[in-house]
Parts: sequence; structure tokens; C-alpha cells
Amino acid sequence: MTNDRKLRIGVIFGGRSGEHEVSLRSAESIINAIDKTKYEVVPIGITKHGRWLTARNASALLPQAVMASQEQRSVTIVGDPTRRGLMGLDAGEQSRSNEPLDVIFPVLHGTYGEDGTIQGLLEMAGVPYVGCGVLASSVGMDKILMKQVFERAGLTLADYEFFLRSDWEREPEAIVARINSRLSSPVFVKPANLGSSVGVSKASNNTELREAISDAARYDRRIVVEQAVHGREIEVSVLGNDNPIASLPGEIIVGHEFYDYADKYIDNASRTEVPAKLSKEIIERIQADAVTAFTSIDGAGLARVDFFVEHETERVIINEINTMPGFTQISMFPKLWEATGISYAELIDRLIGLAIERHADRSRNLTSYQAR
Ligand SMILES: Nc1ncnc2c1ncn2[C@@H]1O[C@H](COP(=O)(O)OP(=O)(O)O)[C@@H](O)[C@H]1O
Ligand SMILES: [Mg+2]
Repeated sequence: MTNDRKLRIGVIFGGRSGEHEVSLRSAESIINAIDKTKYEVVPIGITKHGRWLTARNASALLPQAVMASQEQRSVTIVGDPTRRGLMGLDAGEQSRSNEPLDVIFPVLHGTYGEDGTIQGLLEMAGVPYVGCGVLASSVGMDKILMKQVFERAGLTLADYEFFLRSDWEREPEAIVARINSRLSSPVFVKPANLGSSVGVSKASNNTELREAISDAARYDRRIVVEQAVHGREIEVSVLGNDNPIASLPGEIIVGHEFYDYADKYIDNASRTEVPAKLSKEIIERIQADAVTAFTSIDGAGLARVDFFVEHETERVIINEINTMPGFTQISMFPKLWEATGISYAELIDRLIGLAIERHADRSRNLTSYQAR
């Protein structure tokens, strides 16, 4: 391998997730901005049914073209590190030598993208990839585990209760009574493992609470109910592996009663303010908490950490971590870095470097006993 060979970056987008379209937009921005003098992009689209595709010709580099192309090829990545790369699946292609990839950038949000599942496949395949590993991705996706880890790390959270859908179906009144005794109205009800505010609702009385739980139970077998926080919504970006850094925070000025699905994707009633107008003390608190949140789940590469700053008390309360945040040019994650002095193209460059660094570090681990 010569030094001037371009690194082949597999950009994976789409996927079996409610955030399929957002992923296409993020990937398009990344493919447009990536430094083509250093990197060769291999676009890999996953359809909503889970089929993996790439394009036969380089002109179909952009996500929409790969998805629509008449010339698309079926490909896959197998969990066999000796066949590191993409394998053709179309008739006559099985014996084709596989096409090595140096780094994979899974630009996938939500289910099968941000939850550790594709990260598991990429670990098995032995390819460096951008972002968090299996553990951080799955803990970051699960709102219950995430809260438990954050509590242990000393972060401030809204009070919460959680239960299984099967508990709810068996003894709903006991659950309503438990919530009433431990939390005060209003509360937020959420499926534990989803995103984009899908299945999230605010409940101000027991009728609304029952409806909200039944709705959340359509999406997940684990449900979390938490105390509503009356505050501003502040987001901060984190970048790095073992010694991560935090960006300046930004604010979401919500258009609806809360930052719900319609606000995010339908009428875009919310606006953002970058950087957020906050005191130096609060900015530093938020940045320190964001780094604590990231390291507490053993994050890698990137994450966006979302907070509330309570109106009355100015307390900084953590809401959640997103291990593959939206990544279009106008998304909060890159906008916050832009405001902090790292351009969009440089961000991509750094993330690829971090992926290689993490892979090299993990490759040092012995996987079986050896005498000292
Ligand atoms: N405890 C809470 N107090 C106040 N608002 C909340 C609370 N939990 C969620 N929300 C509102 O609901 C939105 C979505 O909830 P969130 O937990 O971030 O779910 P998702 O992972 O789907 O983004 C938040 O951005 C916020 O507007
Ligand atoms: Mg959120």
C-alpha cells in the first residue's frame, strides 16, 4: 500500500428505520463534502426492506441515485475479517474478489443503525467504522439503561419510572398508582428504544397517561415515564475517543408544546439558536456533563448530548445522548462544531481518523489467554 493511495470509505445510508429519509440527506451532505483528494467514496444504500445496494458506476454516487439506479448491484458485508469489504451478491458475482473498504461510515439513525446492531456486524467484519461501538450504541439507544448509567456517573436527570409492556397489560392500575405516587403531573411517556419523538407524549392526567402508555406500548416492550421538566432545550456535540471534547451548546426553540415528530420533520415549527445564549458557568457545566455522558457509556467518535436548563432553578438536566445525530450541513451536530471552529469537511476527516484510531486500539487486545 503506498501512501498516496486514497482511502476507500464505505458510506452506508438508508436502512430499516423510521429515520431512513433523514439518513439519505445526511449521507448526501457527507458525500458532497468529503475531501475527494484523500478519499474514494463507495456509496452503500440499505432499502427499507433491508436490501444492500451499491451502484455499478461512480456517477451514481449520491444516495437517491443509488436507491433509484437501474444499474444497482446487490452487495453485502459478511462477518468474516478475511473477506474484509463489500461482496457482490448478484448472479455470477459470488466469485468476484471482494472490494476492500478501509473505513465504513454508517450514516444510519435509529433502529439497526444507532443501536449497536450494524456496529456488531462491522466488528465481526473487522472493518474500522465511524462512531460508537456496540455497547455505547445500544446503551445510548435504550432510554432506561442510558438513565441508569447517567445516574451512576453523577449526572442530574428528571425522576423516572419504567416497566415492561407485559406488566402494563397485566396490571395497568398498579402501574398508574406507582406513577402517581412517585411522579407528579405532567409526565412524559416514551418507548425505551426509538427516536424522532415517535411514541413520545406528554400526559397531564390519568386518562392521558393511560392513552400515552398504550401508544408507547405499540413501539416497544419497555416503557419509561418521566417527570416533565419546564426548561430550555440545549444540545451539545461531542467528538473524540478516550479524550473527547465538547462544542459550544445550541438551543432548540420549540414550536409545538414539545419537540415532537411533526416539529422535527413535518412543519419544522422549531428554530435553533447557535450558539445558545447562556452564561459562561452554564456553558461549562453543560460541556462537562456532555463529556461525562459520553465517557459513561464508553462513547467513541461522535455524539450529540441533549439537555434541559430548568427555567426556575437553572439546573442542567440531561435528557439523552444520540450516538448518530443528524449530519446534514444544517443539522445541529455539525452546526455546533462550525460555531466552535471545526468545519464540516474537517469534521468528516477527524471522524475517519478517530475510526482508524479506535480500531487500532482495539486490535491491540488479546482475544485469548497468553502467558505473560
Ligand atoms: N422529561 C421531559 N420534560 C420536558 N420535555 C420532555 C421530556 N422528555 C421529553 N421531552 C420533550 O420530548 C422531546 C422528545 O423526547 P426525547 O426523549 O428527546 O425522545 P427522542 O429520542 O425521540 O428524541 C424532547 O425533545 C422534549 O421536547
Ligand atoms: Mg431527543
